[in-house]
Amino acid sequence: MSSADMKDRGKWGSKIAFIFAASGSAIGLGNIWRFPIMVGLNGGAIFVFVYILAIFFIGFTIMLAELTIGRHTQKNPVGAFEAIKPRTPWKLVGYLGVMTGVGILSYYSVVAGWAMGYLYKTAAGVFRGEVTWELSQETFARFAASPAEILLCLFIVIGVTTLVVSGGVRGGIERFAKVLMPLLFVLIAFLAVRALTLPGAGTGISFYLRPEFEKLNTKVIFFALGQSFFSLSLGMGTMLTYGSYISKRDNLVSSAGWVCFSDTLVAFLAGIVVFPTLFATPGLHPEQFQPSIGLMFQVFPIVISKIPGGYIFGVLFFILLIVAALTSTISLLEVPTAFLIDEKKWRRKTAAVVIGVFSFVLGIPSALSVGGSQALSKFNFLGKMDLVFGNILLAAGALLICIFLVYAWGIAKALAEIASGNIRFRLKPLWVFNLKFLAPLTIIIILIFIKTITG
Ligand code: TRP
Repeated sequence: MSSADMKDRGKWGSKIAFIFAASGSAIGLGNIWRFPIMVGLNGGAIFVFVYILAIFFIGFTIMLAELTIGRHTQKNPVGAFEAIKPRTPWKLVGYLGVMTGVGILSYYSVVAGWAMGYLYKTAAGVFRGEVTWELSQETFARFAASPAEILLCLFIVIGVTTLVVSGGVRGGIERFAKVLMPLLFVLIAFLAVRALTLPGAGTGISFYLRPEFEKLNTKVIFFALGQSFFSLSLGMGTMLTYGSYISKRDNLVSSAGWVCFSDTLVAFLAGIVVFPTLFATPGLHPEQFQPSIGLMFQVFPIVISKIPGGYIFGVLFFILLIVAALTSTISLLEVPTAFLIDEKKWRRKTAAVVIGVFSFVLGIPSALSVGGSQALSKFNFLGKMDLVFGNILLAAGALLICIFLVYAWGIAKALAEIASGNIRFRLKPLWVFNLKFLAPLTIIIILIFIKTITG
């Protein structure tokens, strides 16, 4: 790489700037839309319990591994593996990440499109007055099943993402996000308080926070692990890329810690909004309850309608949700784009547009699979995409990153990189143990049992 290239790569202005940018990628629909569904499908509080352990012991470990590889090589994922182990198949891990990114972007954008549709509905006053569970379910089902609206929303989401990634409006968006993300946090915290004070909130709280340990099984562990990778944007090189812009003076360990913490906090609060509200609704029993893919879209309008000034609140909430989703779609598109620019010498604009168009086309079956097309709905296309790209391939990517760091690069060299900016790395023994044994073994076992888990 020439020195001019090096200068063009840029650096985060400060450690805080990195934490904001990385949290911007991490915090998104994964926290607010996907996490509550996972909790609902996997036994409630027991999932939350395993999830927090997964974040602490495995998510954090992989996050630090990705940041370390990224800062050391100062490259995109494919380039990074090539730099450390030139002319070996290791760069295929980078390719895997590029592919996974495109796959996730395609259906993630469909859900971001739903948020856009809901902003429109909220602003148009659909949720004024009493919002019952029946009304809310029906509104979602009808909306998700109207192909024209859904495809238009998908088009807008991918279009805006492509524009931002191709046009360097990036600095602008990030400055914007820095103000809006804390606001999203405040809003969700506020909604959480409202949800907790609903009459009958107790059932939801115990479903969410009182683990029944007999519900623990491999399926719960598999999805908790997958959710931790998905939510922290791990396993495909996003954090590796973000790490490549960190200054050598910054402390990687505490940076990783802050991102894990803020991401988990937002997901936790989203659950506090969803479950008490849900089970405060007459007639819903936690035992028989099966969440639909639109859970968040069914529940948030209910709690928003129970707040004075809910109209403004609702509009603001969906705007912020869209911004949170966009900061994530941008980070998803950035990996394949950076790859085409760095490794294939494409122009940024061409790269972003080509991947954008491809993701849109790949997103169409997902968009039509929630009622729009019977065949696709029956096949649960969006759910299948999420299982393959959002769980299995992220876990495989995380495993390979672990093995790469331990056996191809070497723990000692990684520790030397971490020591720059952090001389006293107190969690060192724990990190090394997790990286060498706990994380890879857990992921391997989970991937072996995958057939039995997913049926
Ligand atoms: N973490 C984001 C969320 O929770 C989604 C996301 C963005 C992502 N970039 C990623 C997930 C990279 C996996 C890998 O909404």
